[in-house]
Amino acid sequence: MNKPETSGTSAQPGETPPQDLNEIRRAIQKKYTEVSLSAAGKFQYPTGKEGASGQGYDHAVIEGALSNLLESFCGVGNPFSLGEIKPGEAVLDFGCGVGFDLYVASRLVGESGRVCGIDLTEDMAKKAGENLTQAGIANFEIKHVHSETIPYDDNSFDVVISNGVINLSPCKQECFKEIYRVLKPGGRFQFADVMLEKELPPAMSGSVEAWSQ
Ligand SMILES: C[S@@+](CC[C@H](N)C(=O)[O-])C[C@H]1O[C@@H](n2cnc3c(N)ncnc32)[C@H](O)[C@@H]1O
Repeated sequence: MNKPETSGTSAQPGETPPQDLNEIRRAIQKKYTEVSLSAAGKFQYPTGKEGASGQGYDHAVIEGALSNLLESFCGVGNPFSLGEIKPGEAVLDFGCGVGFDLYVASRLVGESGRVCGIDLTEDMAKKAGENLTQAGIANFEIKHVHSETIPYDDNSFDVVISNGVINLSPCKQECFKEIYRVLKPGGRFQFADVMLEKELPPAMSGSVEAWSQ
């Protein structure tokens, strides 16, 4: 998705009552704190190295990545399959997990580029920083966020990537509004996500845990 050469959006209020937001975020943080140790057995789709291979990530990049970057990987698709990321570009990963997608992005932008990640779960953000440092990457920045507000200025990034994150947010309009805001004119948003194809059963539709299934 390319950003038009204009700015400004008209975000609609979210449908989730504000009193539920922190409860939903806490459930997501609880689940992903566990995932920061390992994604194995915690999802109904392949994760880790097997997941990345199945989603078509470059074989050489997977083989070159440290195991720490892969064992918590739980992306639902491959944002890099949607468009080229060029040397020198600035990339933001919205929901960076322990940093595998940031690692892939850093290989593409090279030393003249910059990769930044934000994550709602403190342990994920902390591990992403450790993992990228261990992988020898210097031109990165990771921030732990408490809401959908992105802590970067308007027009900061050439590309925003995201992989299985927006479905988790109770404030999807705010996510899109913020992503649009931080993209430069002509910037691209390349994301993979999951969506409901039919109504949830009643037992799940009111469940806070269902947000992070
Ligand atoms: C599927 S993982 C992302 C995979 C990651 N890109 C990777 O390379 O491994 C989803 C991540 O999104 C984070 N998250 C969920 N809701 C978020 C939000 N509103 N803002 C930022 N991060 C969020 C979770 O804490 C989790 O680390």
